[in-house]
Amino acid sequence: MTIPKHVKMVEVGPRDGLQNESAVVPAAVKIALIDRLGEAGLPVIEVGAFVSPKWVPQMADSAAVLAGIARRPEVAYPVLVPNLQGLEAARAAGAKDIAIFGAASETFSKRNINCSIAESLERFAAVADAARAAGLGVRGYVSCVLGCPYEGEVPLDAVTAVSGRLFDMGCAEISLGDTIGVGTPGRAQALIRAVTQRVPLDRIAVHFHDTYGQALANILACLELGVAVVDSSVAGLGGCPYAVGASGNVASEDVLYMLDGMGIETGVDPRKLIAAGALICEHLGRPTVSKVARALAGKVATT
Ligand code: HMG
Ligand code: MG
Repeated sequence: MTIPKHVKMVEVGPRDGLQNESAVVPAAVKIALIDRLGEAGLPVIEVGAFVSPKWVPQMADSAAVLAGIARRPEVAYPVLVPNLQGLEAARAAGAKDIAIFGAASETFSKRNINCSIAESLERFAAVADAARAAGLGVRGYVSCVLGCPYEGEVPLDAVTAVSGRLFDMGCAEISLGDTIGVGTPGRAQALIRAVTQRVPLDRIAVHFHDTYGQALANILACLELGVAVVDSSVAGLGGCPYAVGASGNVASEDVLYMLDGMGIETGVDPRKLIAAGALICEHLGRPTVSKVARALAGKVATT
């Protein structure tokens, strides 16, 4: 058992969560949410995406969001970038950190970014080079690491190969995305064992969607192997517009409760995190998906 003493929580709700809302959330609400998340102590908050507004209109205001947030020096505010056009726009908006996003499944790659895996890796290499030359931090995502909405099972070799290529391009971190939340703990551990053949363990992040209710179990399985970077989404917001049926990321509040309970440091304040979740749920007009936020709200109501 090599459970880490400290875990870096990467908050993806303002991007992965809100990109999947049918209603466009105004920039002012996104800004208020991101500022609350920063106050709660999250060290990394993914705030938007410089992708085609025809493909994902929900992220079209990412420049306004970057301009409006009260940036905290200790917090990183990365944005997704699919190509050089997106990189230019992100830089013009003042982004200091970007994430490129590939997939281990050909069909998903085509549906999500309209090109093959090989083409995407060529594009991403150019983006990573230009971003690093400009002094930006670069993260790499791999989608469909434990299954694809179009192809079903995805071979771990394919995940390892794409992860390795993104790492070789200079990505500081490789985030392994269970885009449709089909993974289970044994498979999650096999995934980490496979990818560590090409990417050092301390450069791996895990990104679980909770579609089948397996996300916390999967995170624990990965912590047991020493993974120390975990993506999550406040209030369990999220999904992916190109993965029908994918539900939200695991809720940040639930991840934090588990980590706190295990004595693992994160630097995140649970009450402030829950308040940030309440703010966005109030705007969306629906209850939180976080079990912890619901349980604690019930406790307050009954005491
Ligand atoms: P394309 O249509 O092949 O692009 O889309 P193109 O280069 O042929 O350009 C077509 C049009 O798009 C042109 O405009 C370009 O200017 C414009 P037009 O002349 O028709 O008016 N365009 C752009 N506009 C703004 N920003 C850009 C940009 N690039 C081109 N960067 C493209 C290819 C990649 C652009 C498109 O497929 C796209 O934007 N896809 C993004 C899809 C997306 O954001 N998906 C969700 C994020 S991934 C995810 O959620 C998974 C993750 O969470 C991990 C996990 O859970 O697994 C990360
Ligand atoms: Mg995702």
